[in-house]
Amino acid sequence: MQTLKVDLGERSYPIYIGEGLLDQPELLAPHIAGRQVAIVSNETVAPLYLERLSQTLGAYKVLPVVLPDGESHKNWETLQLIFDALLTARHDRRTTVVALGGGVIGDMAGFAAACYQRGVDFIQVPTTLLSQVDSSVGGKTAINHPLGKNMVGAFYQPNAVLIDTASLRTLPPRELSAGLAEVIKYGLICDEPFLGWLEDHVDALRNLDGAALTEAIRRSCAAKAAVVGADERESGVRATLNLGHTFGHAIETQMGYGVWLHGEAVAAGTVMALEMSMRLGWISQQDRDRGIRLMQRAGLPVVPPQDMTPAQFMQHMSVDKKVLDGRLRLVLLNKLGEAVVTDDYPQQILQDTLAADYPAIVAQL
Ligand code: NAD
Ligand code: GLY
Repeated sequence: MQTLKVDLGERSYPIYIGEGLLDQPELLAPHIAGRQVAIVSNETVAPLYLERLSQTLGAYKVLPVVLPDGESHKNWETLQLIFDALLTARHDRRTTVVALGGGVIGDMAGFAAACYQRGVDFIQVPTTLLSQVDSSVGGKTAINHPLGKNMVGAFYQPNAVLIDTASLRTLPPRELSAGLAEVIKYGLICDEPFLGWLEDHVDALRNLDGAALTEAIRRSCAAKAAVVGADERESGVRATLNLGHTFGHAIETQMGYGVWLHGEAVAAGTVMALEMSMRLGWISQQDRDRGIRLMQRAGLPVVPPQDMTPAQFMQHMSVDKKVLDGRLRLVLLNKLGEAVVTDDYPQQILQDTLAADYPAIVAQL
């Protein structure tokens, strides 16, 4: 087992990474204060892992809360189901909410924990690659609004993150690829040598090689923990974690939540960020193509939806959380392995990026 730490003073917490950790009560016990535990999961993950985790937490009174599955349910209505269950079962302020599932469950259960009786303890048990390398770490919790992704939420750190790499064996390949988009992101924004490692191991990762997965998760969580430790509430460097997300969130919102997976939208959005960085003269065409090829080898879409117009992109991007004083800040690359957050770019370059011929770019690779 590997243990990393998110260093946030009194609110610091461990990230445990390893195979079979779901069965180890001694990892969770130090992070549970009361006798009541609510495990929030969904209709897909609960049949796979809820019983096992409930047994591991057998020393507590466990309340299962099983939600409908999917990004389209990441909303007020579903959040209310968590509060209904907690109140009906008389859960008090010493209850611990455990999120068992992917990023949708983690974000919703975390937001519920932040709100329930003004805040109760919270543990993340992420079961998708995307949630293991990104969403379970760092305390961003949220639900979607019809007008924008993750627009209603809170910063609320978990007490611990427990990553059982064995849970990835049941994950559909498309979801594994979606997680790889966020893994590749860390290489692009802050760890150029990691890109080389990924180029060597992307096939092993897609074949669920245990050692390769553990290394990719460890390196991704270490990068995320360092960024969150430096800038918990995103007043600076944390925004670089959103490479590709401004374009990607626009795709998710336009297409309808859940039609494109979050990681897929981030992949196509990252291609757009690479294209814009190249158009600004900050990275070379070879750099852009290297990033696109890696996304492609990870099984990800690298062309934005062809029926989505620049005007539609602009409409959705105007409500991005990185808009400040009406100016849209974008995460772009100074070079591979170094990201910058900036609103200092010619509007024409953004427009040209939105209108670029991505199928032609990919065809010349
Ligand atoms: P998800 O939670 O929808 O999970 C993907 C699918 O896999 C779901 O159908 C789920 O039920 C299923 N699943 C989960 N674990 C499984 C397993 N082990 N075996 C079989 N099936 C399994 O999607 P996701 O990609 O994990 O998360 C995406 C969400 O995360 C988005 O809502 C995004 O906004 C959010 N996110 C949040 C942050 C953050 O910092 N909080 C960061 C990145 C993404
Ligand atoms: N996924 C972006 C962040 O946690 O800041």
